[in-house]
Amino acid sequence: MGYAIETNKISKKYDSFTAVDSIDLKVPRNSIYGVLGPNGAGKTTLISMLCTILRPTGGSAMVNGYDIEKQAKQVRASIGIVFQSRALDDILTGREHLEMHAALYGVPKDIRQERLDEVLDLIALGKKADEYVKTYSGGMKRRLEIGRGLIHHPKVLFLDEPTLGLDPQTRESIWDYIYDLNQNHDITVLLTTHYMEEADKLCDEVAIINQGHIITSESPKNLKRDLKADTLTITVDSPEEFVEKVKTLGFIKEAFLVDGEVKLMVEMGENLIPAVVGFASEQGFPIRSIELEHPNLEDVFIKFTGSKISSEGK
Ligand SMILES: Nc1ncnc2c1ncn2[C@@H]1O[C@H](COP(=O)(O)OP(=O)(O)O)[C@@H](O)[C@H]1O
Ligand SMILES: [Mg+2]
Repeated sequence: MGYAIETNKISKKYDSFTAVDSIDLKVPRNSIYGVLGPNGAGKTTLISMLCTILRPTGGSAMVNGYDIEKQAKQVRASIGIVFQSRALDDILTGREHLEMHAALYGVPKDIRQERLDEVLDLIALGKKADEYVKTYSGGMKRRLEIGRGLIHHPKVLFLDEPTLGLDPQTRESIWDYIYDLNQNHDITVLLTTHYMEEADKLCDEVAIINQGHIITSESPKNLKRDLKADTLTITVDSPEEFVEKVKTLGFIKEAFLVDGEVKLMVEMGENLIPAVVGFASEQGFPIRSIELEHPNLEDVFIKFTGSKISSEGK
């Protein structure tokens, strides 16, 4: 089985700073693959190398069977790119944007019209196609940008933080479009995100990265299953002392501090709350709040790094 994207120890150094450190990725064809990590993890650097925008300083990668360095032109012709920087022109219509891009990507003139209509339909902008982009909502603009990346029928679509800054409802509608593209149009999607929920809901497989390294890669389901644990988050006075005490309880798999709160990894958390609360008050640590969560990808990240994805970035 071929991979749509395969990297071999791909690396990028800026002077002595390593932004991407020997990353090995295997992205199955027709999958939605997520690169999840906090700000500064190296996501944009990684995806930029795969799109041939940046040259690696080490390692190699194949995209659609082409070498990103030796066959950059073929790589570019076979991919679509939707990047973070918003680059739409308010005084053009949606259709004009797509026309420009079709010309730029060498879509033959005689099929351009047909292609435009097809893409407009796909991103559900048919009705708004001839209106100026300045009248579009955030979600419409995002869809237009995605449409623009699709005009030349790429096999792989790269999306750098596709729902950054969108409200939750618009975010979900963008997820629906990405999912539809993948399911019904045989497009492999590689997206980066720092939203756990996005990776969890949308991606068949996720590579979690931090400081240029892959921490782990798996399906979200397996990542969570491997934790085999619920998290109890406890607010208490003297958390440093409490975390040491509570570790002695036999049913606690792991106990650690995150941002001054005590996190306990346990199985069947709901059954254990009374025991934890009882123990704490016996030991002289009245609990101010206790919260139970089933595992999510944030917990996977915390387990490997000891910090949260969301609070990491600067
Ligand atoms: N042109 C550059 N020169 C030096 N350092 C850079 C440059 N571009 C990015 N970096 C650094 O590389 C790291 C990874 O950046 P980036 O790939 O943008 O992360 P992400 O997209 O995950 O937020 C960051 O620490 C960033 O400051
Ligand atoms: Mg980025």
